Amino acid sequence: MIDFKENVNSNQKTTEETRQQMSFLGQAKELVKERSERRGYPLTFHVTTFGCQMNARDSEKLTGMLLAAGYVEKETEDADFVIYNTCTVRENANNKVYGRLGYLHGYKKQNPQMKIALCGCMMQEDVVVSKIKQSYPFVDLIFGTHNIYKFPELLVSVLESESQIVDIWKEHGDIVEDLPSVRKYPFKSGVNIMYGCNNFCTYCIVPYVRGRERSRQPRDILRECERLVKDGVVEIMLLGQNVNSYGKTLQQEISFADLLKEVATIPDLQRIRFMTSHPKDLSDELIEVMASYKNICPHLHLPLQSGSDTMLAAMNRHYTKAHYLSLVDRLRAAIPDITLTTDIIVGFPGETEDDFAETMDVVERVRYDSAFTFIYSKRTGTPASAMDGQVAKNIVKGRFNQLLERVQTIGAEQSERFVGSKQKVLIEHLNEQDPSLVTGRMMNNSIVHLAGTEKMIGQVIPVNIKESKGFYYLGEPL
Ligand code: SAH
Ligand code: SF4
Ligand code: F3S
Repeated sequence: MIDFKENVNSNQKTTEETRQQMSFLGQAKELVKERSERRGYPLTFHVTTFGCQMNARDSEKLTGMLLAAGYVEKETEDADFVIYNTCTVRENANNKVYGRLGYLHGYKKQNPQMKIALCGCMMQEDVVVSKIKQSYPFVDLIFGTHNIYKFPELLVSVLESESQIVDIWKEHGDIVEDLPSVRKYPFKSGVNIMYGCNNFCTYCIVPYVRGRERSRQPRDILRECERLVKDGVVEIMLLGQNVNSYGKTLQQEISFADLLKEVATIPDLQRIRFMTSHPKDLSDELIEVMASYKNICPHLHLPLQSGSDTMLAAMNRHYTKAHYLSLVDRLRAAIPDITLTTDIIVGFPGETEDDFAETMDVVERVRYDSAFTFIYSKRTGTPASAMDGQVAKNIVKGRFNQLLERVQTIGAEQSERFVGSKQKVLIEHLNEQDPSLVTGRMMNNSIVHLAGTEKMIGQVIPVNIKESKGFYYLGEPL
């Protein structure tokens, strides 16, 4: 499903850029065709994605461009063109990439014409690029997060060259619209509403690797959403590192609540989600919009990070425990059934037992439906990496286990509240273990398994929720 969009951009300069890149895609197509003929089979590609929804969306764009260039997608990494779209939010994300590059080298030895490309957040770090240049010379192309729209041009260069090409931009350029993209699922899609981040939470590397916050024009977003719905999409997830500050960088100021309202009124759009909301910018207006539109999912991912005011200040989060708890009260008053999920970091520099107890207290009070818990990972270049009081590993591990045990128990208890209810479930795929079952998601994003067939994929159907298994439900079609 390649989506070649008509060029009705909101910005003349980016229309010119789109035109140029489309012309490079034409050249790439010639090269791929000629090589496929020479080798006697169609050249294949594989894109492996690490990290968050932003990277997943970027990978759909890369996939769209590779398909448009005439490559055929392959399930495995023994392909003619392999891209790793990397993440660097925590140290272990980086280690995974280095570990797997060894495997790719093995494939390349068997297929010397194979091209290996690395892109994404890790590549915006100088130390990473130096290491790859030095220790992984078999990598053919390295590019970053800011020039992903130039991929067709880079693709032509790499196909015509035998040496390693490195193209990393320190700063972001304009937002370029309307390049080919694909959707992993025909019935749901992510839509970027903004790029980058200006918050500089002291532990976080994202602002350094994704650049400054910039919002897309509302008309470009709405046009994309409308087109997706016409194309059969029933669920859209609006994406940004902090969607609550959407619009602040636009000339004509518009709030995220205003944008959400516009998206919610698109006819036939059944479900709208968004990620991520920063508690410091969550407005009453947004809560009101969420409560007023039936197609906005009653789910909010509201990262807490820590329950301690001292830690929150050191993290540069700009809210307090009391403010966070008051947001939760307001959300539950307006949307009684709302599902709340969060991210929590354990072991931030200087975290004491008392600070950790404050985090546990918020967990007990909010009773999250689920929570992603992370051990603090030191990221070079961030302010926290130079802070005193790095917490000993064994202490962090103990706190982490204690937290994990509570969030899992509470999550399982919370999930009981939907047992016996009737829910709309969007069927996403056949069950991986049992092909007589299908798997889908409720409006609040919970997973449900039920009896069904492939034909149901992409449909929203009413389901009786029979049993909770903690992380998922068993249901029965009505
Ligand atoms: N923009 C989103 C988060 C993106 S990163 C937000 O502000 O909510 C996703 C999560 O990774 C963060 O919420 C945080 O909990 C975690 N994280 C980020 N940097 C980290 C680090 N250095 N160590 C451990 N966890 C980290
Ligand atoms: Fe990182 Fe904070 Fe920006 Fe989220 S809001 S991406 S945690 S700096
Ligand atoms: Fe990772 Fe980059 Fe996302 S660092 S979490 S892939 S923005």
